[in-house]
Amino acid sequence: MKLIDVHTADAAAQVLYRLLEERTPEINISHRRLPSWEDHLAFIASRPYDAWYLIEAHNQLIGAIYLSKMSEIGVFILRDHRGHGHGKRAIELLMQRHPRDRFLANINPANRPSIEFFQALGFQHIQNTYEKR
Ligand SMILES: CC(C)(COP(=O)(O)OP(=O)(O)OC[C@H]1O[C@@H](n2cnc3c(N)ncnc32)[C@H](O)[C@@H]1OP(=O)(O)O)[C@@H](O)C(=O)NCCC(=O)NCCS
Repeated sequence: MKLIDVHTADAAAQVLYRLLEERTPEINISHRRLPSWEDHLAFIASRPYDAWYLIEAHNQLIGAIYLSKMSEIGVFILRDHRGHGHGKRAIELLMQRHPRDRFLANINPANRPSIEFFQALGFQHIQNTYEKR
């Protein structure tokens, strides 16, 4: 597996947009609607994360992973490539490459598979966050 820096990869914006299109509402608590292409490009250009990679496995781009400035990990694997250990391997590589005292993951409580995934990697449940709009 290879982690490829989003800011140097050809066609990274297209790949990331495809990943966004596959995202369902229960996956993520911070992004709701698909952004416009222009907003998407501006978001990438703003360098929002400490580290942001495309995930390559078997010469195919199969997902993306980031580490935020607050040490939060976000990971997304394309549906057809889930359940083969890629998510786990990508997180291990990211944590090796960017050592921190601790890592966090914000997960929508409706996203059971992801909760089980992070728990299997040794992450502990430490807080519930509430929102009023
Ligand atoms: C969550 C996600 C990243 C997991 O990636 P993956 O490549 O499918 O997971 P892996 O194959 O590496 O699984 C690693 C371990 O996690 C656990 N796990 C993974 N998917 C699981 C599921 N659907 N249900 C329960 N446990 C699961 C398993 O214990 C697995 O260990 P195993 O090898 O002993 O089976 C992937 O399903 C995904 O992209 N989901 C949509 C985006 C998302 O929810 N991201 C998390 C929010 S940041």
